[in-house]
Order: sequence, then structure tokens, then C-alpha cells
Amino acid sequence: MKNKIRGMRIIVSDTYEEMSKKAATIVAAQVNLKPNSILGLATGGTPVGMYKELVKMYNDDEVDFEDVKSFNLDEYYPIDKTNNQSYYYYMNDNLFKHINMKEDNINIPNGHAEDIEKECYEYDKNIYNSGGIDLQVLGIGTNGHIGFNEPDLTFESGTHKVKLDDETIKANSRFFDSIEEVPKEAISMGMKTIMQSRKILLLANGEAKAKIIEKMLFGEISPNVPASILQLHPHVIVILDKEAAKYIEDKVN
Ligand code: GLP
Repeated sequence: MKNKIRGMRIIVSDTYEEMSKKAATIVAAQVNLKPNSILGLATGGTPVGMYKELVKMYNDDEVDFEDVKSFNLDEYYPIDKTNNQSYYYYMNDNLFKHINMKEDNINIPNGHAEDIEKECYEYDKNIYNSGGIDLQVLGIGTNGHIGFNEPDLTFESGTHKVKLDDETIKANSRFFDSIEEVPKEAISMGMKTIMQSRKILLLANGEAKAKIIEKMLFGEISPNVPASILQLHPHVIVILDKEAAKYIEDKVN
């Protein structure tokens, strides 16, 4: 089932695997059409299957990452690269160590930068100087966050330091040994940086995301639901599994 809502392409897949395959096909198509694409990459449980598919496609010679450059959305703060819960570690483990991207072309906010302001400024400058993001992959938090842009009274525009919501800390504690180990802060791309991406691919699976998906697509545009701003972006593809699409299926049919 496929449809368009407010300029967004909505694709509902039967399973997580199907969602992941479709997402990987879109990323690979982007890279095949423009081999020196700038990709915006996301972490979390959601895109793990997509990365697995991309590695498979790379091994089958269906996509080549040699000239691709990437910018990750976010990183915990403070966290060391060697910590197996850092997004640096995650990206390496799930994607980079399996493909042929050049190390110099990989960008992830530095989770132990001494001068955070400088780190954020340089990160945005680097994205800008690279020509901007061609395709930004996003997941979504149960509270509507994208990257680590938490619900707030205003939208933060550039890369910035964030205080994580209790809901986010709780949700992400499943990846840590205990909730105390989850960092309380993070560095995240801002909304302007995300919105300036030429195309956006948002993925969500599982029932826990169903309510926020409905709000993101049909609720009012508000910094209280950060992902709702995507209603204003001209080129968004949303791929969901059936569970995440639970409250919108009749609206997109
Ligand atoms: C994390 C990340 C987001 C991610 C979201 C959902 O905290 N900062 O980029 O999209 O929360 O995570 P998950 O895919 O594990 O549900």
C-alpha cells in the first residue's frame, strides 16, 4: 500500500525485513545515481536491518561507497569512541567496517570534544562545504524526536548540545547495562540542517511508534513534536511496518 500525504510518500511494508529492504534500495539508488552522494545517517534499533541489506548489496556489487561522504545525525555526550554504546562504534559495527567508504569521508559528532561550540560549528560548516546532504536517513523517538532534537518550545537550527529527555534515556537504556549508564546529553544536528537535506527517508517499525507516527503526519506542526516539521519538507519518504502504521492505515489507503 502506498500513498502521498502532504507531499510525503508513505510506504507501509508487511514486515521489518521488507521495510529494511525498501529503505536500502532507496539509499543504494541514491548512491548509484550520484556516486559522490552526501548521506545523512541515523542510528538506533530501527535502521540496523537497512544497514544489513546495504552491506549485502555492497557484497553483491550492487552498490559502491567509494566516493560517498556521510554525516551522522548525533552522538551521545560525553562518550568515548571505544564505548560499544557510542554511535561511532555502532556505525562502524553495522556499516563502515563492512563497506568501502573512506575513513576521511565519515563524519560523526565527537562525543568527547573539549570545545563543544567549536565542534558544532565545524560540523555544520563541514556539511555546508560538502554541498549539503543529498539523502538524510531518520528514525523517530517515541516522543517525536529526530536525531536528538527533543520536544521543546522552539526548533534548534544548527548542530548543538542537547539535554536528553527522561523518555529518551529510558527508551535507550535497553542498549545499556543499566539506566545510570545512559549519557544524559548528546550532540545533535539541528532542524535547519535536517530540513536542508534534499531528500529525507524516515523509518519506523513496531507498535510503540504508531501514535507518534500519526501525530507526525496528521498533528499540528510544533517543536513539541519535532518530527512534525517534516510536513513542510518537499521530499520525504516514510517507510513503516504494519504495526507502526496502525493508526494511519485507513488514512493512507
Ligand atoms: C535514538 C536516536 C535517534 C533514533 C531514535 C529512535 O535515540 N538518537 O536518531 O532515531 O532514538 O531509536 P530506535 O530506532 O532505537 O527506536
